[in-house]
Amino acid sequence: MLKGKKILLTVGPTREYLDPVRFITNESSGKMGFAIAEELHKENAELIIVCGPVNIQPKVPDRNIKKITTALEMYEECQKHFSDVDIAIFTAAVADYRPKHQANSKIKKDGNIATVEFVKNPDIAAEFGKIKMPHQISVGFALETDNVIENAQEKLTKKGFDMIVINSPNHGEGFGYDTNKVSILINGQNIKDYPLKSKSEVAKDIVDKIKSLL
Ligand code: PMT
Repeated sequence: MLKGKKILLTVGPTREYLDPVRFITNESSGKMGFAIAEELHKENAELIIVCGPVNIQPKVPDRNIKKITTALEMYEECQKHFSDVDIAIFTAAVADYRPKHQANSKIKKDGNIATVEFVKNPDIAAEFGKIKMPHQISVGFALETDNVIENAQEKLTKKGFDMIVINSPNHGEGFGYDTNKVSILINGQNIKDYPLKSKSEVAKDIVDKIKSLL
């Protein structure tokens, strides 16, 4: 059913540099995104994986992977592919902000307090939501700690997702672990909760749900 479908995935963290040796990032390992990519590869989908800095050896061909570092680079790379894809899956933990100024050389220690000014990064999933064609499917993730369902529902609507996978940064879930516990919300349907499973098993559940949207 997914054979030949063109699928864009964003995976991993982004890095936002303050100077050549210091950056802001998050704990995303890329495991969840690549578990989904591997499941889709088994189904013979055509993948474009736009991936931030990660340390894993995925079982998908290298030619499918576009490596980027910053949120702006992730956005630019995704823009090249948006219009051609059937499905976009946004698993990446994209930095919402980047430092307003990036120093060309290492910032020197100066005083007891340092202030950094940030500017907003593009919201890649939301930008895709604005230009999405009726035949295209958009799948988002929500990493939530409070008001989980309300926040996820708001993201689903605001970013034009057809389906959102909700997870939390609890022990054994979310960032870095080999396991995850998710709930899946499809536009107009009841939420479905899943137990803690390996990320490969979670990926299979997610791919099955995506197939149900086709
Ligand atoms: O990589 P792992 O260690 O396996 O961890 C997996 C994960 C926890 C990173 C993953 O399961 C996950 O939850 N990814 C989304 C994390 C996140 O940034 O959630 P958010 O609620 O802030 O963002 C909502 C959605 O908008 C996400 O689909 C995100 O990719 C997208 N987004 C957010 C900001 C932005 N500037 N651009 C985006 O596309």
